[in-house]
Amino acid sequence: MSGDALIQGGHVVDPSAALGATLDLRVRDGRIVELGANLAPGADDALIDASGLVVAPGFVDLHTHLRVPGEEHKETMASGTAAAARGGFTTVCAMPNTQPPVDTPAMVASVLDAARGADARVLPIAAVTVGRNGRELAELAALRDAGAVAVSDDGDAVADTGVARRAFEYLADLDIPLAEHCEDPLLSGGGVMHDGVVSARLGLRGQPTLAELSIVERDIALAEASGAALHCCHLSTAAALDAVDRARSRGLRVTAEVTPHHLWLDHAAVAGCGEELRYDTAAKVNPPLRTRADVEACIDALAAGVVDAVATDHAPHAAPDKHCEFDAAAFGISGLESAWSVVGSLVASGRLTLTQAIARLTIGPVEAWGLDRRTTHDGEDLRGLGTLQIGAPGDLALLAPEVQTIIDPARWASRGKHTPLAGQQLSGVVAATILRGRLVWDGRAAL
Ligand code: DOR
Repeated sequence: MSGDALIQGGHVVDPSAALGATLDLRVRDGRIVELGANLAPGADDALIDASGLVVAPGFVDLHTHLRVPGEEHKETMASGTAAAARGGFTTVCAMPNTQPPVDTPAMVASVLDAARGADARVLPIAAVTVGRNGRELAELAALRDAGAVAVSDDGDAVADTGVARRAFEYLADLDIPLAEHCEDPLLSGGGVMHDGVVSARLGLRGQPTLAELSIVERDIALAEASGAALHCCHLSTAAALDAVDRARSRGLRVTAEVTPHHLWLDHAAVAGCGEELRYDTAAKVNPPLRTRADVEACIDALAAGVVDAVATDHAPHAAPDKHCEFDAAAFGISGLESAWSVVGSLVASGRLTLTQAIARLTIGPVEAWGLDRRTTHDGEDLRGLGTLQIGAPGDLALLAPEVQTIIDPARWASRGKHTPLAGQQLSGVVAATILRGRLVWDGRAAL
């Protein structure tokens, strides 16, 4: 489903072309065909008023849990892609830790099938190992051929170093990355939050910083030895970011993402800020919220380009999975619909420029995984994805960066309503989202 549209009078920002100017933009048959001042409306163009708004390429999320198949009580294709649209995301890469996991070409095909006609483009990620069991490699080449844009056992690292080594060796010829969940289970040892002063105060078992660093360092060595590409998911510690920085300076194929929650909150969020200890399960996430110094390191690495992408790790759960004692609660934060407000707040506070912020949500993730070199299984050429260049997909996010909003999950499309950001006042609203020239979210009236 694609459309014809004329987006009028917005401040067009395309970091891939160092563009920032007030222009109109025309989409025909779902692709960008013209950018210019005062373009004349065509007979079939849907007219979309973007005056006072920033017009950016549609956001690309490298890390979304859509829960399809098997956990539709947590999220469905419809609710998850509607949440993506409300968050400005036009492309989401779907993690394979579903029930059952996406570990065969038929499963990849079933995700693509379920996503047909959805409110966002869904690019599947497949499991590295059969059943995500960490022992037997899945058919990596066949998964790539079926449409997987990366492989990952996310939720768990590929902990067995021999298995990880063989995965990297196969991937060296396949042109897709291993998206690693960087957590050594022998070091994290059942920890439910960051190992530090807050976990000590709450009497909860902690996950040390070293659990992340040890897998990052190991995988950098394996990626270097094999020549394959490593993508480090949801990095949360200054030490791991430093390791990635050093690997990239040596020219290795290492990319990385950080989540909005690791850019904004530290481990104090688990306990709450009052006298009474809260044990807030909305702040239980893996990797855990770390120290304020780690948050600062995540922001600095993002601004410096050591980190390619902001990725949501949108992890919806059903209410009973969160409304229980802390140890028993599920890890995960629902993130698609608050991501831009967090990133926009970093712009408002001067920590990121608007161009940097948009780049890490668009061209950054696209280039990290080479998504613009792909043609989807439906035959859609992804050339220009994450940009506003002529010929690119007509995917746009219309943003109001300075509009204040109070995060209210009750109004979200996602079935996952849990976030430690609930009630916070942030800066930045997604006014509208356009997928292949078609409005998939329109919140302009409420601005
Ligand atoms: O907090 C998390 N939730 N981290 C993960 O790695 C997995 C995710 C989930 O699937 O719920």
